[in-house]
Amino acid sequence: MPKFDTVVINGVLVSASDVSSNCIGIKDGKITVLAERFSDDDLRGAEVIDAEGAYVMPGGVDGHVHLCQDLQTGPHGLGGRCADDFLTGSRSAMCGGTTTIITFATQTRSEPDRSLLGVVGRYKARADATGSYIDYGFHVIIVRDDGDVLEEEMPRLVSEWGITSCKLFLTYETQRLSDKQLLNVMYEARKNRITTMIHAENGDAIEWLTDKLEERNKIAPYYHAWSRPPAVEGEATNRAIALAELIQNPILFVHIGSALAMKNVRKAQTRGLPVYAETCPQYFNLTWNDLKKFHDPSCFENSKMICSPPPPPDASDADELYLGLHNGTFTIFSSDHCPFRYDDPHGKPTGVLEHAESMTGEPEPESCLDGHALCDLVSRKTGAFKFIPNGIPGVETRLPLLYTTALQTGRISPQKFVELTSTNPAKLYGLYPRKGSLMPGADADIIIWHPDHSFVPFSLTNDRLHHNVDYTPYEGQQFTNWPRYTLSRGQVVYRNGQITGKVGYGQYLKRGQSQLATAQGRKQDPRRVADWLYE
Ligand code: URP
Ligand code: ZN
Ligand code: ZN
Ligand code: ZN
Repeated sequence: MPKFDTVVINGVLVSASDVSSNCIGIKDGKITVLAERFSDDDLRGAEVIDAEGAYVMPGGVDGHVHLCQDLQTGPHGLGGRCADDFLTGSRSAMCGGTTTIITFATQTRSEPDRSLLGVVGRYKARADATGSYIDYGFHVIIVRDDGDVLEEEMPRLVSEWGITSCKLFLTYETQRLSDKQLLNVMYEARKNRITTMIHAENGDAIEWLTDKLEERNKIAPYYHAWSRPPAVEGEATNRAIALAELIQNPILFVHIGSALAMKNVRKAQTRGLPVYAETCPQYFNLTWNDLKKFHDPSCFENSKMICSPPPPPDASDADELYLGLHNGTFTIFSSDHCPFRYDDPHGKPTGVLEHAESMTGEPEPESCLDGHALCDLVSRKTGAFKFIPNGIPGVETRLPLLYTTALQTGRISPQKFVELTSTNPAKLYGLYPRKGSLMPGADADIIIWHPDHSFVPFSLTNDRLHHNVDYTPYEGQQFTNWPRYTLSRGQVVYRNGQITGKVGYGQYLKRGQSQLATAQGRKQDPRRVADWLYE
C-alpha cells in the first residue's frame, strides 16, 4: 500500500506566517505529512510533482463570486443574468489557482422569495444542475427585514446549510436596506453569529447624482464613475460603522474601492472595533479612464468596465490601496467575479444587449462612431449607464494579477499574499483549517506556481481564460506568473494549462462560524454600545 497518493517535492511552501522548504505528502485527499525530504520508500507508488523551487501555497479561497445569479443592480433595479454558471465559473476559478468559491443565493423583494431557506434551496438546484469542479459554499443576500423570517430561519441557515454569512446592501433600489432595516437584520445576524458583509455606497446620493448627470445628458458609461465618487463610499462606510458599533456587530465591508473608505475602516480598526474589509483586483488595475478607453466615449464597449464601486479615479489611488493590503487594513482579497456577456454571436443581441433592449423597448442598435456593431445603445437611447448591469469578470485572474503586481514587486510578502487570498477568507467564512492551510489534516487544496526565473511573461487575451464571458477587463495586461498546478482535495485539476479536473467533483461546503477574533482590545464603553440589547 503506497504511503502517499501524491507528493509535492522541491517546493517553497508559503503559509500566512512562514516560508519553508518542505515536501508535502497527500493521502485520501488530505495533507498528511510535511517533511524536509522523503525517502525512496515514502515515494514508492505515489505521483511525484516536482515544484522545481517554485512557491507552493494553499489553494485560493475566493469569498466573493457571482454565479447563476439574476442580478438586480442599477439604481432602478435593472439587472442582468450572470454569464457563468457553476460549471464555467468553477472551471475558470480552478484554472487561476482557486480551489474554493463562495457564491450568493439571493433573496428578492418578490413574495416567493420571502423565505431565505426557499431561496437557498432553489439556488442549490442551480449548482446541482451543472455541478462544480471545485468546492463551493453560499452566502445569502438579504433584501428584506421580515422579523418572523429572520428569527425562524437564520438559525436554520446555520444549522441546516452551514451558511454563516449574509450580504446587505446600502445601495441599489431593489436591494438596499434603510438604516432601520439594516439594524434589524444585523441584530438577528449578530444573535446567530452570522457575519454581515456590507455593500457600502450611499444609494440616495447615487440616485441624486445620476439624475443630475442625466439632466446634463451625461449618460455614457464613463459617467457611471461620476455618479459614484469616493465620497459615496466614504459616507456609507462611516454610517455602517456607526450602526454596527451601536449594536456591537462585527462587519465586513465588501469590495472597498477608494482610499477614503479604506481610511474609515482603518480608523475604526484603530479604535478596536471588529471591522473587516475586502478589496478586489479592479481597484488596483483599472481607473476611471478605463470607462472611456474606446475612442468614442459613448461607445457601448466602455460598459464592460462598469462595476460598483467603480475603480478609483487615478492610478495613484492604487498606491494607497496597496498600503492597505500590506498593513492589514484589508482582511481579504476577492474577485467580485460578476460576469456579463456583451457579444452578439447569433446576429441577435444577447446578454447585456438583450437586457438593455428589453428595458428601452428599442430595436437592435446600430454601430457607434468607432464602427463597433450593436454598440451605440448608450449614446442614442435612454439606455444610459444606469441600465447597465454592474460587475466584471475576474475569478481566474485574481491570483495571477496579485502575484504579478504585488508579490513580485515586493509590495506584499508571499505570506501576506496567502493570508489575503486563502487563509483569511477561510477563517472569516468558517472554513479554516480545512481550507486555507497546508497543515497536516487540511484538505490537499494546493497551488504550485511556475518557478519565477523560467516563466515567460505574456500579455493576456480573453481566449486564454475559461469563463463564459466574451471579454476580460485585463486584456493586454502583462502577467509574470500563473499557477502551474491546481490540486483540489489531492486531485490535480489543472496542470500546465490543461484541465484535468472533472465537473461534479466539487462538494458543497457547510461552513462553521467565523474564526477571526472579534476581541476589541479595550473595555466596552456603555455610553456607546447597547449591551442590554443582548441580555
Ligand atoms: O459591480 C458589482 N460589484 N457587481 C456585483 C454585485 C455586487 O454588488 O457585488
Ligand atoms: Zn456589492
Ligand atoms: Zn463602439
Ligand atoms: Zn459582488
